[in-house]
Order: sequence, then C-alpha cells, then structure tokens
Amino acid sequence: MSRIHEALKKAEQERAAMQGGAVQPSFAATEQAPTPTTLEEPPAARVSAAGIPLASGMPSFASPFSLDALLARCPELQWTPDVKTMLFFNDDDTARGTEEFRTLRSRLYHAREKMPLKKILVTSALPKEGKSFTSANLAQVLVRQHGRRVLLIDADLRGPRLHMMLGTTSSPGLADYLQGTSDEFAIMQRGQMENLFFIPSGQEISDPAELVANGRLKFLLQRVEALFDWIIIDSPPAVPVSDASVLAKACDGVLMVVRSNVTPVDMARRARQEFPEQALVGVVLNGTDNEAMSYTRYYYDVQEKNVTESKV
Ligand SMILES: Nc1ncnc2c1ncn2[C@@H]1O[C@H](COP(=O)(O)OP(=O)(O)OP(=O)(O)O)[C@@H](O)[C@H]1O
Ligand SMILES: [Mg+2]
Repeated sequence: MSRIHEALKKAEQERAAMQGGAVQPSFAATEQAPTPTTLEEPPAARVSAAGIPLASGMPSFASPFSLDALLARCPELQWTPDVKTMLFFNDDDTARGTEEFRTLRSRLYHAREKMPLKKILVTSALPKEGKSFTSANLAQVLVRQHGRRVLLIDADLRGPRLHMMLGTTSSPGLADYLQGTSDEFAIMQRGQMENLFFIPSGQEISDPAELVANGRLKFLLQRVEALFDWIIIDSPPAVPVSDASVLAKACDGVLMVVRSNVTPVDMARRARQEFPEQALVGVVLNGTDNEAMSYTRYYYDVQEKNVTESKV
C-alpha cells in the first residue's frame, strides 16, 4: 500500500470517527462551527419549489452551523416591544420586576452546576398565568450578561403571544419549520437587543398537537443548540392540552409558572404530574399582590429536594 494511500485511509478513518462521535453537552456558546455530529434522521425529506433541500430533508452536515452563518442568514428586524411588559427593553435596570428576573437567572445558573441545563420549557397549568411574560423576560435578562447568546422560541402554536410582546412578525416561524417549509435560519430573527434571537410561532395551523409531536423540534434544537448559551421555549398551558409535556421531552428542564392567588392548587399539582419529577427545575410564583414587591419566586431545587424562597 503506498504511503499516500495509507495517509488517505487514515484521514478517512479519523473523519469517520469524528462524525460518529457523541455530542458533548456544552453550556458555553461556541464561536466556531460545531463539530459534526450524528443526528437522528429527520422525518420525511422535503424539497422546496426552487429545488433547495429544506430543513427536514437536509443531510446532517449540509449547513455550517457557525456563528458567521447565523449572523449572515438570520434577518435583522425592527422590533417595537411593549416596554411595559418587556422589562429589559427600556434600559432601566432598576425597573420594577427586573431584580426578580436577575434572581431567577442566578437560580438557573446554580441549577446548571448540577445538571445539563440549556433548553428550558416554560409552562403553567392554565392560560394567562404569565408563561409568555416569564419566557420573554427570562430570555432578556439572560442576554444582559456579556457575551451570552439566547434563543427564544414561541412554541405555543395555539395562542402565540411572544411576537406581539416583542412587536414583530409571527411568520415564518416554528410551525413552518415543523411542516418542512422553512429552514432554521429563515424562521429565526433578531431585533435591537444584541444576542437575543427569536423564533416566532409561524403561520397558523390546524393541527398543533401533531406538529409538535412530529420529532422535528428535537431535530431543530440539535442543529442550533451549540450556537446558544440558553434556549427558552414558551408553551401552551399543560393541563388542558398535551403539547407542553411533548415539548418537554426535547428540553433539559421545565420551569413552571404559578400565578399568585389565581392558580388553584389542584391544577398546579396536575400540571406538575404532566412532567417527570427530575424535569422540573423551578417554580415561578408570578404576580404577587404585595405592592412593595411585584413578584416573589419560589424555587424548587431538583437535586436537593427542598424548596427555597427568593424574595426581592
Ligand atoms: N408579573 C406580571 N406583571 C405584569 N403583567 C403581567 C405579569 N404576568 C403576566 N402579565 C400580563 O398578563 C397577561 C397574561 O400573561 P401571559 O400572556 O404571559 O400569560 P400566558 O400564561 O402566556 O397566557 P396563555 O396561556 O394565554 O399563553 C399578559 O398581558 C401579560 O403581559
Ligand atoms: Mg402565552
């Protein structure tokens, strides 16, 4: 065997070994293109009218998922956020509620020391308990830390609100990706808050339960997660519909929102039962009626099995 042939064979073996390697869990966003990894084959390949392979049909290594590709391909839009509820867009770091989100952020970093934690599903038992409010503000407070890159996803395909809160378009978005009609970068957008990326819900669809269960969300997250420090996913209420428990399977942890003096205890318990115990990383008590403090947060520590209270 010639030396050139040997060298080529060795290189081929090394490349094969690299491509077969497992993904190492990583919490720091990489500035490099991620190491190629073996990903599950997505369901059903699709090709666009222009003949471009779409997300679900792309071979695993077709796109370089680098920061450069993200910045080049993700459109920059002019968001007009509702500054009354999007607490970190008005540059007042002392605004009411901001400190509670900083406390929540510290709790999550603390939890992350003990378990892999990057993809967080935010849910609650019932409608209107503050899931979208919590998801959006949590994503904002996380990017306030220098160099942190965050992806916020509106996976509430039944009652999407995040695009309204951020003052931006809702489509293309997650539903389009799940249907195989848009790729990762086409559905992602960024506004004026540096390092905050957003995937809106996408076009209205009639079969949200089937779409979120079709396996493509997991595939999407696998493809983009190395580019982000945190991925925060908003969801529908857990008791009336099953979407949240399906979505949770693609995430590392679940943050449960409970609305103070509103959520019935039995409903909160029922919602909790929708998720495996180890998936629950915390409980956010939203909207306390104490004038002096707009929110109080209770945090359930999964590892130590105790409840701690965080007040501001
Ligand atoms: N702590 C809070 N302070 C001020 N406004 C809040 C707070 N929590 C929620 N809201 C407001 O209450 C309304 C309902 O909140 P939100 O949309 O976040 O609930 P949700 O649980 O996502 O509802 P849905 O189940 O319909 O998606 C919104 O107008 C939101 O801005
Ligand atoms: Mg909501």
